[in-house]
Order: sequence, then C-alpha cells, then structure tokens
Amino acid sequence: MENMELPPRPKLFDFHGVSMIHHFTDNWENIRNFQARPDDILIATYPKAGTTWVSYILDLLYFGQTAPERQTSLPIYERVPFLESDFHILPPGTELADKLSTSPRLIKTHLPVQLVPKSFWEHNCRIVYVARNAKDNAVSYFHFDRMNQAHPEPGDWNNYLQRFMDGKMVFGSWYDHVTGWWERKQTHSKLHYLFYEDMVEDTGRELDRLCSFLGLSPSAEEKERVRGGAQFDTMKKNSMANYSTVPIMDFKISPFMRKGKVGDWKNHFTVAQSEQFDEDYKKKMKNTTVQFRTVV
Ligand code: A3P
Repeated sequence: MENMELPPRPKLFDFHGVSMIHHFTDNWENIRNFQARPDDILIATYPKAGTTWVSYILDLLYFGQTAPERQTSLPIYERVPFLESDFHILPPGTELADKLSTSPRLIKTHLPVQLVPKSFWEHNCRIVYVARNAKDNAVSYFHFDRMNQAHPEPGDWNNYLQRFMDGKMVFGSWYDHVTGWWERKQTHSKLHYLFYEDMVEDTGRELDRLCSFLGLSPSAEEKERVRGGAQFDTMKKNSMANYSTVPIMDFKISPFMRKGKVGDWKNHFTVAQSEQFDEDYKKKMKNTTVQFRTVV
C-alpha cells in the first residue's frame, strides 16, 4: 500500500452551481436515477461534520446485535455506501448500495439538498443530517484535504480559509449546504437535523433523540453499548471505523480520526482571521434561523 502509485489530485469545477471533483460526478446518471427504498436511511452531511460518527452509531443501532460479524470484517464505507463516490478503488457508491441486502440500508451522501436523487423524496425516506459549526468544519476539512490524495491540494491555511468562505470547496459552500438542508427540514418531516456540537456535549441525549426519530427503543444496556463503541478513542483504534484501510489517505500527514473536539478552530484561526470570518458569516447567514455553537 505504501508504494502504491497515486493518481494526481483532481481539480475543482462547477457542477450545477456547486464546486465538485470528478470522483463525485463521473457516475452522475446512476446517481440521479438511483432507486431508493422506502426504508432507506440517508445520512447527509457537509464533509467533516461527523458523518462517520453518526454512520457508525446507526450501524451499531441497527446491526450491532443482529450482525456482530460486521464489526470486525466490514469497514464502515462498505456498510454505509457513499452514494456519489466513484474512486476506482471500490465499486461506485450506487453499485454498493444496490447490492446491500440489509434492511434498512444506510446510505451516506455529501450532496447539497438540491442534488439529492429524487427517489429519496418520492419514497419519503428518513434522513439524518449532521451539521458542524463552520470554523471547526473548515479546520477539519483543511487537515482532511492535506491527507486525502483524492481531493484538490489545500494550499496554505490562509488561502484555504478564503476558499472556504468563497464556497470553492468539494461539495460547494458550507453556508449553502447547512442552510439548504435546514430549509428542507421545514417541509420534509422525516429529516432529523443533528449538530456535531450537541453530540459532543451529550452523546447519550442525542442518541435518545435519534432513536425516537428512527422509532427505535433499545434497552439502556444496548444504548450504552452503542455510546461506548462510538466514542472517539474507541473508534480511532478501530480499523473498521477509522479509514486506515483506505490507500488514498496518508495518516502520516493527518489521521482521519484527528481530534474529535469542538473549538479546535482556536488553534488555527488568528484573531484577524476570526474577526473577518465572523463579519462575513453574519452577512452570509443573515436570512436563516439555523444557529451554531463554536464552543460547548
Ligand atoms: P476532526 O478533524 O476535527 O477531528 P466526517 O466523518 O464527516 O469526515 O467527519 C470527521 C470529523 O469527525 C473529524 O473531526 C473526526 O475526528 C470527527 N469524529 C469522528 N468520529 C468521532 C467521534 N466518535 N467523536 C467525536 N468526533 C468524531
């Protein structure tokens, strides 16, 4: 794996008004026409908002007891296919999802709400959206882009932050993503909008809310098992959850499970960057009611 020849980093381009790379658009016809099933659960996020954490929790809730062998044999990206992905090291996400025989199927997407295949809406599927405050999200994304050969080169932090503010990131603007999904929540009753900061503050409470949304009633013991299994330190050590099996990621640069904290942005933003970011944030977020916390 160490000496594997890696393809050059891809370039960003505009795709229906959203910055994208070819890994997420090459398979577009199959994505657009993807056939959801009524009991599918879609896990939707802007990248680095806690997708893997929530995917892992859902997988444990549904299959932790009935299919324990999954925990030691199947990496999370095979249990929860990444719908729009087409990385050539795995079958495309649509194909992996089509082949899933589990019920429900857990499917991950980073697509902005307007690009989600219409079949998910037609079947009124349950959707769990996870959002993370912009500053920590940007920091996490920066380190991910450094270590992930399948994303464009991040450059230095100052330029990266400007690009984040300009929405020139893979999957587009964070501001459009979190607000677009927030607006959809007003009309799609089966959308649970979850905040990373709330999960960090009290995972047990958020687990209860998640179960109530999903119509699940695990025992106290079962809930504790899920909460414990999905703790940061436990997941970081778990090769089926920590992405260490993916050859395009260089953990020597930065691990996938990096810090798992709220407020790490303070170690990256200068005072000037933070002030400029906040000023710009107010303008971009002035028409939405969604509120984020940058500390807990
Ligand atoms: P950091 O880079 O800030 O550490 P995604 O899964 O959407 O790519 O998000 C990855 C981010 O979620 C990383 O953030 C990662 O460490 C964090 N994360 C993953 N599992 C977590 C857990 N169990 N608890 C807290 N944070 C977690």
